[in-house]
Amino acid sequence: MSDGNKTLTVTPGSPLRGEYCLPGDKSLSHRAALFAALAQGQSRIDRFLVAGVTQAMLEALRDLGVAWRQEGERLLVEGKGWQGLKPPLRPLNCGNSATTLRLLAGALAATGTPAVLDGGPGLRKRPMDRIVEPLQQMGVVLSSEGGFAPLSLAVSRRPLQPLDYTLSVASAQVKSCLLLAALAAKGTSTLREPGPSRDHTERMLRYMGAAVECELLSVDGGFQYVTRFTPPKPLLLKPLDFTVPGDISSAAFLIVAALITPGSELHLRNVGLNPTRTGLLDVLADMGAEITIEPHGDQQGEPVGDLSVRSSVLHGTQVSGSSVVRMIDEFPAFAVAAAFAQGQTEVSQAEELRLKESDRISMLCRELASLGVQVSEATDGFTVQGGVLPQGGQVDAHSDHRLAMSLALVGLASQGLVTVRGAEMIAESFPEFIEVLRGFGARLESQK
Ligand code: S3P
Repeated sequence: MSDGNKTLTVTPGSPLRGEYCLPGDKSLSHRAALFAALAQGQSRIDRFLVAGVTQAMLEALRDLGVAWRQEGERLLVEGKGWQGLKPPLRPLNCGNSATTLRLLAGALAATGTPAVLDGGPGLRKRPMDRIVEPLQQMGVVLSSEGGFAPLSLAVSRRPLQPLDYTLSVASAQVKSCLLLAALAAKGTSTLREPGPSRDHTERMLRYMGAAVECELLSVDGGFQYVTRFTPPKPLLLKPLDFTVPGDISSAAFLIVAALITPGSELHLRNVGLNPTRTGLLDVLADMGAEITIEPHGDQQGEPVGDLSVRSSVLHGTQVSGSSVVRMIDEFPAFAVAAAFAQGQTEVSQAEELRLKESDRISMLCRELASLGVQVSEATDGFTVQGGVLPQGGQVDAHSDHRLAMSLALVGLASQGLVTVRGAEMIAESFPEFIEVLRGFGARLESQK
């Protein structure tokens, strides 16, 4: 149960109409701030996401001696290059942000900066053995609490050993951690993944002057995603002049809101359309969603565009394999779309969802069922029998920002009021969520 006390009550029945320019992408904002700290010179990052999780990254960078300042949504970072990070005087508090912890671990390993990486109770439950083991293989001296945070990094001898490693799950956080560490390796590192996890790190490193190669191989009737990285010589990253594309994972909530609320039409501007992140758009299109995509081409290595979404009659579908990876953060919103679709939707090969900010398989099933949605849980996914309008009721966000926003969406088109407990978590990734929906015409009331 959520220990926060903010509630959000949504009253159904108002069509949503309007236009909105999405705030900066969370994954790209994290990377831009951290990579700028490692670059040589001042970086300017526009449309930086100002939210709980990115604040955790910025505070950790400040504790590491990195100078930065925010002017609204512009972030200016004074990169001091390879020697820029100083050993912090206290444990780095990564809050709720696994991206902050895992990416910082890679950067600290590369720069040889001794530090303790820690976080709140939720983050301490997320698995860290997936980075500890390969970092140790590279010669990084670090320890964990039985595979969980806090992680303690000691001064390691560098250069590090190049890594040849197969990830057991497709994970951009793990891949990015290891690519950062590989900057300090003597030679080429090779990483293999079972699925196409988001490639923002690879694109940004290229934009900063480092060569990263990616290849899709077919193996044993399936695919393997191979990333090869040789550190640049001299070891120098160019500073960034970067505008962060809008967050498609935040757009997902607005897309589902428009699809399920009769009479709605929304225009979403400046959305990041990196193909490793657009799985939800493909799956929803298959379900009959009326979504028009207007691509604008690349913005500093990342594709962006506008989306128009109309309320639609959806039908059930099946999601598994590489689609799961390409929409890994979108399952809470997707489950709501499935609840309003005609027929059955089945999600499988998605056990990774149990290791996110909450166990998203169990918690989604539990909370949606309490609103009368016919949903059943499997080890590696869930099945939703859609088409019966959910009832109103009280639900809990389980300290998970995406669960909080998704459950609120149900209230836009349910039979009665939906109240979400623990709604303060929304500010972790999408602080404007409530205001934006109100601006579109939704009736939401938040209470402390
Ligand atoms: C992220 C990668 C994903 C995602 C998370 C952000 C990133 O995690 O769920 O919200 O910025 O690299 P995994 O890489 O662990 O799947």
